[in-house]
Amino acid sequence: MNDDLTALIRTIPDFPKPGIAFRDITTLLLSPAGLAATVERLVLATRGRVDLVAGIEARGFLFAAAVAVPLNAGVLLIRKDGKLPGATIAEDYALEYGQDRIAMHADACAPGARVLLIDDLIATGGTARAAVRLLRKAGAVVEQAQFVVDLPDLGGADRLRAEGIAVDALVA
Ligand code: PRP
Ligand code: HPA
Repeated sequence: MNDDLTALIRTIPDFPKPGIAFRDITTLLLSPAGLAATVERLVLATRGRVDLVAGIEARGFLFAAAVAVPLNAGVLLIRKDGKLPGATIAEDYALEYGQDRIAMHADACAPGARVLLIDDLIATGGTARAAVRLLRKAGAVVEQAQFVVDLPDLGGADRLRAEGIAVDALVA
C-alpha cells in the first residue's frame, strides 16, 4: 500500500559514514503526489484530537507543519539545543558515539495539552524518546508518534511503544 512512497525514498550508500545505507527522503519531498500522499496518510493515522504537533529538527519540521494544518493544531518545535530564543528545557540522548541535546521552549505547551510527535524517520529511537521525555516534562500528554520511515532493525519504534506510545510509520 505504501510501495508508492517506498519507491520515492532513495538509499545513499556510505553516508554519513562507510557502511551506513542512508534513507534519503529529499526525493519524496520533490514529488508533489508523494508529498501529498505522505501528509494525507499521516493525518489519517492520527488518533483523536490533538492540540499541538511537535516536529523534530530538521526534517521533522516539514511534516509536522503540513500535518498540523488539516488537524487544526499548532506546531511545537523541538530543536537541537542552543537554537531557540526563549527560556528552554532540554533533554540529553545518546548517539552512536557521544551525546546530543534537544530543547523546546519551556512555555510552549499548556499542561495537559495533547501532543502528536512527528519526525521523518526513527532509527534507534534515541531522538524520539528524548522528545517524549521533554514533552512530558513540560506537562504534555503524548500518546502517539508518527514517522514517514521506520528502520525496524534498529528497534526504535519498539522502544517507543514500550513507553506507552502508539507508533505509526508509513514505510519500513
Ligand atoms: C535523524 C532523523 C531523526 C533521527 C533518528 O535526524 O531525522 O531525527 O536522526 O535517529 P534515532 O532514531 O537513532 O535517534 P538527524 O539527527 O540526522 O538531524 P537532521 O534532521 O537535522 O539532519
Ligand atoms: N536516513 C535519515 N536519517 C537517519 C538515518 C537514515 O537512514 N539513519 C539515522 N538517521
